Amino acid sequence: MIEAINIHKYYGNQHVLKGINFRINRSQFIAIMGRSGSGKTTLLNILSGLDWPDEGSIYVNGNRLNFTNDTKMTEYRQKKVGFIFQFFNLLDNLTLFDNVAIPLYLNKKYDTKKVLDTLVRVGLINHKDKLPAQLSGGERQRGAIARALIHNPEMIFADEPTGSLDSETGESILKLLKSLHTESKTTIVLVTHDNLVAKWAENIIHISDGVIE
Ligand SMILES: Nc1ncnc2c1ncn2[C@@H]1O[C@H](COP(=O)(O)OP(=O)(O)OP(=O)(O)O)[C@@H](O)[C@H]1O
Ligand SMILES: [Mg+2]
Repeated sequence: MIEAINIHKYYGNQHVLKGINFRINRSQFIAIMGRSGSGKTTLLNILSGLDWPDEGSIYVNGNRLNFTNDTKMTEYRQKKVGFIFQFFNLLDNLTLFDNVAIPLYLNKKYDTKKVLDTLVRVGLINHKDKLPAQLSGGERQRGAIARALIHNPEMIFADEPTGSLDSETGESILKLLKSLHTESKTTIVLVTHDNLVAKWAENIIHISDGVIE
């Protein structure tokens, strides 16, 4: 379970998040919607421990995230969380195989078979030795999903994972996320500004100008 309590975030004198409160239950598939610039990525970065709030608390399974403790935050990100970023998903100079293997390396649980199985699951096994630049946009995004799920994280945060894809490829990616949610009970937090994408989620949180509507 993730609970956000009175989250505020400033960038310089811009007040980006203005007292955000909500709760996401374990194994929920939730969409965060809002217009460009409303604070969606900022919020997702805070929930996933990539950024910190200036005020307020995040509780994960009842434990308050301690944003000042780098070791604890790194552990949180590496063990519990999978991310699919809005942009810049894979590391350019690593093959698809090595990109997908990163979370296993970081958790010291390297396992070749697991990497291969995960690449099969996302339909990319035939591309495993390619660099990201040799993959299509949809293939890269599926590679990013493979990397996000390989260490069986409790939560996956996906920031507009289908934003730059055609509707059919986008749908295959949403199906993949949905199957993780139903089969592995992974909590999915998906950011989008597209109603059709949000329909895949069980619940929707609307954010407007840094406030939940
Ligand atoms: N690192 C930063 N430094 C300064 N301002 C920032 C930074 N990150 C975000 N902002 C500002 O905070 C506001 C919210 O940005 P954010 O990226 O959260 O929006 P978003 O809802 O994800 O938008 P989009 O749909 O375009 O991705 C924007 O006005 C943006 O310019
Ligand atoms: Mg964004």
